[in-house]
Amino acid sequence: MNTATTQTNETTPAAESATRYSIQTDGLNLWYGKFQALKDVCVSIKPSIITALIGPSGCGKTTLLRCFNRINERYENVTTTGQVTILEKNIYDSNVSLSELRKTVGMVFQRPNPLPISIYKNVLFGIRVHTPRSTFTRDQRDEMVESALRDVQLWDDVKDMLRKKATLLSLEQQQKLCIARLLPLKPRVILMDEPCSALDAEGVERIEELVNELREKYTIVMVTHNMGQARRVSQECIFMLLGEIIEHGKTLDVFLNPQHKDTEMYVTGRYG
Ligand SMILES: Nc1ncnc2c1ncn2[C@@H]1O[C@H](COP(=O)(O)OP(=O)(O)OP(=O)(O)O)[C@@H](O)[C@H]1O
Ligand SMILES: [Mg+2]
Repeated sequence: MNTATTQTNETTPAAESATRYSIQTDGLNLWYGKFQALKDVCVSIKPSIITALIGPSGCGKTTLLRCFNRINERYENVTTTGQVTILEKNIYDSNVSLSELRKTVGMVFQRPNPLPISIYKNVLFGIRVHTPRSTFTRDQRDEMVESALRDVQLWDDVKDMLRKKATLLSLEQQQKLCIARLLPLKPRVILMDEPCSALDAEGVERIEELVNELREKYTIVMVTHNMGQARRVSQECIFMLLGEIIEHGKTLDVFLNPQHKDTEMYVTGRYG
């Protein structure tokens, strides 16, 4: 049993008392061409906890995540209706800057995707894209790199090889780096789409520990196919099926006392 297992299923008092939701959707529908991938999704996601998003392949988990930073719009032929409110702001308002939104709402993918440049430059990549070159002094940049790498528990491993290529790192280290490079942009929401699926058992455990460490400071939504992982790391769990949200509740309730037959079948592994 790892440390993440023992501490995570209880919502902290701080999270409990936070009445505001970080992410809310209302009547959210999404079509790829004529195919409707999200159907009337109404969901409220809290800050300072980890929300797991589960459901069979193709049910729309990635699509829903991609609505939260409007990345779906990069795909052709996508139509979205309904509302998405992040930190009390409608992200479809005409005055919303996509670049600001994507700084606030960072995303980590299934396969770690560091750029084939140095570890140091990877951490600062977002800052380089989003701010003019002279915004930060060399010392400030060094400090941002150290702080981000410490936050993801990677500093001790890489502090003597910051100028080496990030692609030399192990997959687990690369995934930590992909999380680290979001941090200088001061995100409030971190979306994780099956962040452990490319890792070995040890890597999975370390990333789960890290995500648990980060949760107080951020709103984390994590897609996972691993029911054990959903139980270990999340405080709330959303079960989706065919583009709809079937159930959303405290993780232990969803697993031990599901309200819907489909949820029960899925969490007990009887769903195809
Ligand atoms: N860019 C796209 N163009 C057309 N259809 C798409 C696109 N992306 C996803 N879909 C379809 O939308 C549905 C939902 O896909 P999505 O990737 O969101 O599911 P998922 O729950 O993340 O699945 P998985 O667990 O396999 O990752 C699927 O039927 C998929 O084929
Ligand atoms: Mg997916």
